[in-house]
Amino acid sequence: MSFYKKIRNIAFLIEPEKAHKLAISALKTGIHIPSNNNSELLKQEVFGLTFNNPIGLAAGFDKNAEVPNEVILSGFGFTEVGTVTPLEQAGNEPPRVFRLPEDDALINRLGFNNDGMEIIYDRLSKTKKRGTVGINIGANKDTKDRLSDYQIGIKKFSTIADYITINISSPNTPGLRDLQSGQHFQELIKLIKAHKIDGLKTPILIKLAPDLTKKELEIIVNLSIDGGIDGLILSNTTVERKDIMNKKFINEEGGLSGRPLMQKSTKMLRDTYKISEGKIPLIGVGGIFTGQDIIEKIRNGASLIQLYTAIVYEGPTLINKLKKELIIEVERYGVKSISELIGSDIK
Ligand SMILES: Cc1cc2nc3c(=O)[nH]c(=O)nc-3n(C[C@H](O)[C@H](O)[C@H](O)COP(=O)(O)O)c2cc1C
Repeated sequence: MSFYKKIRNIAFLIEPEKAHKLAISALKTGIHIPSNNNSELLKQEVFGLTFNNPIGLAAGFDKNAEVPNEVILSGFGFTEVGTVTPLEQAGNEPPRVFRLPEDDALINRLGFNNDGMEIIYDRLSKTKKRGTVGINIGANKDTKDRLSDYQIGIKKFSTIADYITINISSPNTPGLRDLQSGQHFQELIKLIKAHKIDGLKTPILIKLAPDLTKKELEIIVNLSIDGGIDGLILSNTTVERKDIMNKKFINEEGGLSGRPLMQKSTKMLRDTYKISEGKIPLIGVGGIFTGQDIIEKIRNGASLIQLYTAIVYEGPTLINKLKKELIIEVERYGVKSISELIGSDIK
């Protein structure tokens, strides 16, 4: 049993949001696990950016961009801060994060609690970035015009973000996921296209929900390719509750993440890779706990991956372990770079 798993029982006595705050505070003091297992085999160029390894920290951990460098220095290939909304927002009433240890899962309904665009912009512009930092943007709960919130976010962050993620898939802001419907999505694409015509160079990615039907996904993927979107992130948390063992929190409202999401989000990734014929880079997210899981995402079409829930259950040393496992896997396939494995289960 790892050291973290031994102390986990104690850590889990602390309420989830408090434990998260403690983790951020510890990282802020500069405490982090030093990165190792770095290898040229894991290095890649994706949407014009260099990634030392394909493992990213998913949005929601560093919502306020307080510790991007500490995350990178502890071994991640990139980090995504946010979701950031134009105005500061408190989010939903606590309790709003629940652990489901029997399932290696979490349910959260935080609701985009964040310091707001101005403060986060200020914080990030004063940070000398030590690696690739994406900024995930969203709309305020009470906004009158959601699309305009995304427009404001793109304008604000395009000069300091390595990439921008448009998050239209959180289940915790009422109505937000409607932007994934045909007509609204078309308007969003139009808006992004207009920015690109105006000279926007920052890669724009869109993060989707795993609960879309295949037909909806098909429409979105084709519109994204036509609209020059640089990448898709698959997926956000799910509102589905299937095969969950924990009975205490199963009916809590919110998005489910962690191990139960692996199969569903990987299926969506595979469908997307097939629909897009590999024309648009994909980031695979959802339920990753092992090097094998990462290889599965990559072989099903992901160029990069992200994770969050596994850090809660396995601790911060997980990243070095995952990189070690990945290097062994890549060597086993006898390829010169992990990128050669992208979509190899489909081709
Ligand atoms: C506590 C928590 C907060 C999250 N907040 C955000 C967020 O603000 N924006 C976002 O795009 N995704 C958010 N997510 C979703 C994750 O980025 C990720 O898509 C999802 O958890 C699936 O990955 P995982 O199974 O590795 O956790 C959050 C997830 C968790 C667990």
